[in-house]
Amino acid sequence: MSSNDAPVYTLAEGRPVQDPSAATVLMGSKPRGGALSLLADTQLIETLAHFPRERIPERVVHAKAAGAWGEFECTEDVSDFTSVDFLNKVGKKTKVLARISTVAGEKGSADTVRDIRGFAVKFFTEEGNWDFVGNDLPVFFIRDPVKFPSLNRSHKRHPQTNVPDSTMFWDFHNNNQEGVHCLMQLFGGRGIPASLRNVNAFGNHTYKFGKPEDGTFKYVKIHLKPDAGIKNLESDEALRLAGEEPDYHIKDMYNAIERGDYPTWTMYFQVMDPKDVETYRYNIFDITQTWSHRDYPLRPIGKLRLNKNPENHFQDIEQAAFSPSTMVPGIGPSADPMLQARMFSYPDAARYRVGPNYQQLPCNRALHVYSPYQRDGPMRVDGNYGGDPDYVRSSFRPMRFGPPDIAHDEWAGKVALFTSEVTDLDFEQPRDLWKIFKETGEDKRFAKNVAAHVGKALPEVQKKTIEMFSKVDQEVGEAIQRELDELEKKGGAGIEHDKAPVKGKGMRCKDSKD
Ligand code: HEM
Repeated sequence: MSSNDAPVYTLAEGRPVQDPSAATVLMGSKPRGGALSLLADTQLIETLAHFPRERIPERVVHAKAAGAWGEFECTEDVSDFTSVDFLNKVGKKTKVLARISTVAGEKGSADTVRDIRGFAVKFFTEEGNWDFVGNDLPVFFIRDPVKFPSLNRSHKRHPQTNVPDSTMFWDFHNNNQEGVHCLMQLFGGRGIPASLRNVNAFGNHTYKFGKPEDGTFKYVKIHLKPDAGIKNLESDEALRLAGEEPDYHIKDMYNAIERGDYPTWTMYFQVMDPKDVETYRYNIFDITQTWSHRDYPLRPIGKLRLNKNPENHFQDIEQAAFSPSTMVPGIGPSADPMLQARMFSYPDAARYRVGPNYQQLPCNRALHVYSPYQRDGPMRVDGNYGGDPDYVRSSFRPMRFGPPDIAHDEWAGKVALFTSEVTDLDFEQPRDLWKIFKETGEDKRFAKNVAAHVGKALPEVQKKTIEMFSKVDQEVGEAIQRELDELEKKGGAGIEHDKAPVKGKGMRCKDSKD
């Protein structure tokens, strides 16, 4: 760029300015007499006033992430069960925006921690945006949405000590044992990915995919599998990296995309006929359980490729807003109360975090949108529909409308049966997982990982955790106890127990005798 082509530096309102690095001051009369800043120095005021306003609230969960643009290609004919636009032709490509995150840590936290990875992808389809908002583990910790804030607080910082606290982590899970399957997954070999390019992604919930033209649908579980395979870190290596290279995963993905080594995933669906719902062993609206691949094999659907880093992280990724409620004709929610709660929560969070017109930002904006009943509001930039009628059923604005929704599930009436009551069924899939751990030699590592974490919890909490895992299989409890005993021998006296309880009526503190 010749110096003539270089941009002229201006204030935010366009006024060219002589020197961006100098404040205008009133000089003292004596040598070294100091100087007074002036309210008339617009540059200084603008610079200082904008700085503390650079931050928007970070996401209350999933605050830290890598993100990238890419494309999805439909590779299979799925016309037997859905006519959804982005899957209606083999070879059809759809632009996407992806964000892969940790959950509990803040925006500045380390990448290589034992935590779920969030995996969100916005599909910019011809019929509106579809957001896939999933995780790298196939199941979740709870099935009742009212527990979501509590779950996350127990994984975050203690309200008094301001540090993560094993006692409250395990106390929450001991008393909400529907999460045992997810805990087995998290503390097994897949709890710390080697790279974000090597993680699975699961929709977790049951969704409906169907044909708006005739209202039919099938139930679907969505899986994305990394073509480069699943790779994970051992705890020791992860711990080292968390100290030496806290942004390890973000750098890895950014650099891979920069050098053209684009990460790809194959999307698969498990497809279930609605008539199976009542007879299937597991409640398909319960997010703590999976469908066996033997019963419902993985059916390939298409290919996701991330091939472009964001021009600017804040603009493209931090301001991106994903939501399970962002659906297109042919996709619908099932009668899973967690999913329905999420459909409220994400747009609510985006309105607070980014602002009520967040859908207009380039990272969120649908390819074709005509939504004239949403008007005005802060930072409107899209023309605001000019003089178009802003009320429904106007005689003066012809409009065409979309297709009807796919059918509602007949099972909606059963939502009320959802409770957190834990039965032996909750331990059945973890029991199967334990058998796999034993076959693959992962059992010892699992026990070690749990012991390293729960070993910091208060002894009575440890005891309850062992009891919980013993319900999966007596051996699991024993294996964890052995590892705890090992830790104790190696210097357990040095272990400082986290302090979850606080002093207060009806609560015991660490030192109390009662
Ligand atoms: C982020 C709520 C369960 C995956 C978030 C955010 C909220 C939230 C408020 C922050 C959104 C933002 O600021 O833009 C909830 C509630 C849940 C729930 C209320 C249950 C009742 C789940 C489950 C999954 C999941 C089961 C995965 C299957 C994600 C992901 C993000 C996220 C991937 C990050 C999205 C992004 O990259 O912007 N969740 N969540 N959440 N959640 Fe959930």
